[in-house]
Amino acid sequence: KSTLEDTLLAAIRTIPDYPKPGILFRDITTLLGNARAFRRAVDELVHPYAGQKVDKIAGIEARGFILGGAVAHQLSAGFVPIRKKGKLPHETVRVAYSLEYGLDEMEMHKDGVAPGEKVILIDDLIATGGTAEAAVKLLRQIGADIIAACFVIDLPDLGGRAKLEALGVPVHVLIDFEGH
Ligand code: PRP
Ligand code: MG
Repeated sequence: KSTLEDTLLAAIRTIPDYPKPGILFRDITTLLGNARAFRRAVDELVHPYAGQKVDKIAGIEARGFILGGAVAHQLSAGFVPIRKKGKLPHETVRVAYSLEYGLDEMEMHKDGVAPGEKVILIDDLIATGGTAEAAVKLLRQIGADIIAACFVIDLPDLGGRAKLEALGVPVHVLIDFEGH
């Protein structure tokens, strides 16, 4: 069996200068399209929590939906979407977060998680951690007990993991790209 790192490195495509010059874009569509690598990634995301009580997986739009749905199925947990503003039909909680340029807002349904439910947050990648931090705020606002936040990729130079850990959220990552 190849190492996790070998499998992921071979399956994740790197696109230089996307979406702008100087950025190395880590493209997981090739991982998702590779049956063996996709299964391996989901298995590894699930592994620490197998046998634990997990009520909900919260997936962050958009790529966190794909991974989060698979993880929820494996853990026999429910799935709750955290979405960019204006997409959810019922009553929501909303939080502003900063992107590279300016602010955006994310929201989730107020009744998406019941107070005290155990939740794992999932996204494909953590960079500055702004997106994940906003998701943590939403989940805590409605009383979720966040067990962990899980990502396929961490860009440690950008400090997102440390930011989440400072909020008391354990972070589980499958592969680091240093010097992103
Ligand atoms: C990317 C990625 C994470 C987020 C990480 O999503 O999928 O969600 O950025 O960045 P951060 O840690 O600096 O906040 P993006 O905003 O490009 O949206 P998408 O997933 O809908 O394509
Ligand atoms: Mg995203």
